[in-house]
Amino acid sequence: MAFLSDSLARVKPSPTVAMTGKAAELKAAGRDIISLSAGEPDFDTPQNIKEAGARAITEGRTKYTTVDGIAELKQAICDKFARENGLSYTQAQISVSSGGKQVLFNAFMATLNPGDEVIIPTPYWVSYPDMVLIGGGTPVFVQGNPEMGYKITPEALEAAITPQTKWFLFNSPSNPSGAGYTRAELKALTDVLMRHPHVWVMTDDMYEHLVFDGFEFCTPAEVEPALYDRTLTVNGVSKAYAMTGWRIGYAGGPVELITAMRKMQSQSTSNPCTISQWAAVEALNGPQDYIRDSREAFHRRRDLVVAGLNACPGITCPTPEGAFYVYPSIKDCIGKTSAQGTKITDDETFCTALLEETGVATVFGAAFGLSPNFRISYATSDTVLTEACNRIKRFCEGLR
Ligand SMILES: Cc1ncc(COP(=O)(O)O)c(C=O)c1O
Repeated sequence: MAFLSDSLARVKPSPTVAMTGKAAELKAAGRDIISLSAGEPDFDTPQNIKEAGARAITEGRTKYTTVDGIAELKQAICDKFARENGLSYTQAQISVSSGGKQVLFNAFMATLNPGDEVIIPTPYWVSYPDMVLIGGGTPVFVQGNPEMGYKITPEALEAAITPQTKWFLFNSPSNPSGAGYTRAELKALTDVLMRHPHVWVMTDDMYEHLVFDGFEFCTPAEVEPALYDRTLTVNGVSKAYAMTGWRIGYAGGPVELITAMRKMQSQSTSNPCTISQWAAVEALNGPQDYIRDSREAFHRRRDLVVAGLNACPGITCPTPEGAFYVYPSIKDCIGKTSAQGTKITDDETFCTALLEETGVATVFGAAFGLSPNFRISYATSDTVLTEACNRIKRFCEGLR
């Protein structure tokens, strides 16, 4: 009898682990490493939110709560969906979990059966395919179009739908490409979904507030209200309020699905951290200045990084609409040899050589299912980003 489970065998080891390990090794050996691989804002959680968490502790709000969230937080989430997304949910339609990651996980575990397909646009956030595989489903990839900033076309979505399709997983702005779908682009996708009533929509709106140049964020159930009854709208406070460590994510959706997700959570983690729930109430109901300030900083950094990368020979970097990532192509570097003699055969060899020769740690595109590219997180200071771009430029100029 095997000790380890079959579902574990379906999970691939993270392709980013080797890169992270290599960066740590070089750092320990005294090398000056710039890490551009973090998936979290470099800002501190706003003071009013921290104080709400501290208050919850001193006032003794430190016990179990109802499984999928306190009424106060659910109401704050209903108000947020109504205010910012034009979506009307009741508290019974809201689920709160330990991060957006658990929300997505619960939804897949509660709905997937063997043979069910989940359509995932590439490049994708690394956890999506593995969550689907753990749940016994089959990921079906639809390739993003480099000419469209790595967004997918309605034709490609249509072609991927089969009678087995259970979910279409949508993420805008995207991790890792930063691509944000305009209302017209999203409507073209929802029009396809309207022709396939058996397909449900899971939308991961985690980067909703990080959009630039006046880009208007929109979400499927708002763009096509007829999809409301088969859409799970997922969001969270991690990226919007620099609260990654507090672990609060949430979703709005049909009662039957939300109830099934609660059942799943009730037998695994129970309620998300009580203190964090009270902090999240403050995040959603309190002053929203942090969102504006962080958006301005990320906008400036995006422009800095896009310009810096496009000045590197062999790199083409689209200007993404949002998030805090860029996803440049290194197509024109493939086949070349680095200054220290590494043959660049794919994005993994590019990122490894870049790390070893310049100390800049990034994540190669194969980890996100679309190559030859790499991801840079620009959630770090302007000074560090400028230095990183200079090093990348020198590396590219050295390719022969
Ligand atoms: C696209 C996307 N969805 C979900 C998450 C998970 O966020 P949380 O910290 O709320 O679990 C992340 C975190 O990196 C993400 O990039």
